[in-house]
Amino acid sequence: MAKNNAKTSATPQTHTKPTSPKATGGFSVKTLFRDLLLVIVLIAALSYNLIKDLVVDSGVLLGDIQPFNTEGCKPLEGLEACEDIHIHHASSLAFTTCGNAEARKGWYPPIDKFNSSTENAFQDVFVIYDIPSGKHQVMDLVGFPEGADRVFHGLGIHERSATDLTIFAINHRRTGSVVEVLEYSIGDKAVQYKETIQHELIRTPNDIVALGPREFYVSNDHKYLTGPIRRVEELLRRQWSNVIYYSPEKTFVAFTGVASANGMTSNKDNSLIFLSACHGAGMHVLKPQADHTLSQEEFVKFDFYVDNPSYDPVSGDIFVAGHVQPYKIVLVSPEPGKPIIGPSKVVRMYKNPETSSTAPKYLIETVLADDGHFISTSTVAAIDRKHETMLVGTVFTAQSFFRCPLPKGA
Ligand SMILES: *[C@@H]1O[C@H](CO)[C@@H](O)[C@H](O)[C@H]1NC(C)=O
Ligand SMILES: *[C@@H]1O[C@H](CO)[C@@H](O)[C@H](O)[C@H]1NC(C)=O
Repeated sequence: MAKNNAKTSATPQTHTKPTSPKATGGFSVKTLFRDLLLVIVLIAALSYNLIKDLVVDSGVLLGDIQPFNTEGCKPLEGLEACEDIHIHHASSLAFTTCGNAEARKGWYPPIDKFNSSTENAFQDVFVIYDIPSGKHQVMDLVGFPEGADRVFHGLGIHERSATDLTIFAINHRRTGSVVEVLEYSIGDKAVQYKETIQHELIRTPNDIVALGPREFYVSNDHKYLTGPIRRVEELLRRQWSNVIYYSPEKTFVAFTGVASANGMTSNKDNSLIFLSACHGAGMHVLKPQADHTLSQEEFVKFDFYVDNPSYDPVSGDIFVAGHVQPYKIVLVSPEPGKPIIGPSKVVRMYKNPETSSTAPKYLIETVLADDGHFISTSTVAAIDRKHETMLVGTVFTAQSFFRCPLPKGA
């Protein structure tokens, strides 16, 4: 406030023009340019790491991706745009939700699409895929509110018993994003709708780790739902997103400071949570505390845009699918009827057998890659060792997911 007053008392300007020919242009475009250049150089200097990371992670300097381990992969017929895939290992059933790839280009809040009159949207289906027989079934959602939107996203599954499951499904309704609580018992012909959870802290939900019948962690992938500031958040890879702990008794921010909190998974006893930071091109390894906040054990850096992690209970490894050249997805605006070509890869993240203090805790190995002409925009890879199978979800394509042989060495 004092500053403003000081300004007015400054000595009056003398408007005599200097004789130097340089400045005769008055308001000089040159000066403007110089200032602009200075600002750019400053920003670049300040964000050297940001730009360096961006170049690596966006894959702009990578040549063509060579297909690797894609032999024997087959798309599942009859479904499209399946998002998350969860394998229930005891029953060899995979749970997934599928929509319409075209409709995703019009309404899909996670990618800033908000055309509320998009055709063929709002009618996603809940699907159970039987791994041994390779057959799938679209499930009735008994009791689901009449006329309510269904635009499903991340899934989390809690086992109430070996055969009774509570399934949390993120649903981007036009009235706001919510978590639907569903129940399914192995062998049932239908899925039961139980309730809808809406909470002011759950704003841009992406994925869920289930903890109990009404208890979970949920990631918010953005701080800003839409608008120019959301683009700033993405372009400058701001660490503004978070993970929420939800229970009917209390709900709060459990972890924050994530560059686009995306997919989440946990190990068998939920003692570790793996959270991918999509714009941070890395994986947060988090430890739940007694008060349900999450403390970071490790941040594992990747060299690509990581999507959803999934846990292999047999090896204890984490399989992560993601986008090797995301700029190809972002820069090419999706044309109606044309598939999105998104070069993809799947990696295995595993504990480093070497445990010296200088050695990295986790190692990363590519188990599958494609240039996007066959397997495009891979978002999740779930492993079933019993049937030597890997299911790879490809959300923005007219395929649903691929069934691949378990990659050699994985
Ligand atoms: C929204 O979707 C409808 C129906 O698909 C389409 O006719 C309309 O042009 C879209 N609006 C915008 C702004 O893209
Ligand atoms: C998985 O990947 C998609 C595609 O990028 C992303 O939008 C989504 O948030 C991720 N999470 C889940 C749970 O599928």
